Amino acid sequence: MDIRKIIIGCDHGGLNLKNAVIAHLNAKGIAVEDVGTYTPASCNYPDYAHKVCEKVQDGTYELGILICGTGIGMSMAANKHVGIRAAACENTFSARMTRLHNNANVLCMGERVIGPGLACDIVDLFISTDFEGGRHQIRVDLVNGFDRH
Ligand code: RB5
Repeated sequence: MDIRKIIIGCDHGGLNLKNAVIAHLNAKGIAVEDVGTYTPASCNYPDYAHKVCEKVQDGTYELGILICGTGIGMSMAANKHVGIRAAACENTFSARMTRLHNNANVLCMGERVIGPGLACDIVDLFISTDFEGGRHQIRVDLVNGFDRH
């Protein structure tokens, strides 16, 4: 996977980690659209999950990143969107596997859970690992089928 652009969002709980991830991606030459939040003022994570997911849904971006305090609320909100497969990752193994097996298209992380060094390693694996397809495509299709229920 050769990602040249990505979209990212956060709530107040993820602001510092988001800024660290943006700096990391920019240093790699990857263009980043930052949909906010931009200040530490308290806000609602579903609003930012939606801003990122709608631009992954419409194909503007192949992958998105969402950061809140835990990564959990963002992943719950993101996974309510048709066609979005969001994974909350706290380690590099999960980040690699969720691309290989789940074809995850949104990475969620928690600023109150992991530090910036680990988060940037997680991002690197997420954006550079390709979906394996094959038997995993069958399973992803089954998951996508739940969009109708
Ligand atoms: C905000 O305090 C916090 O609840 C939010 O960032 C996130 O962790 C929710 O899942």
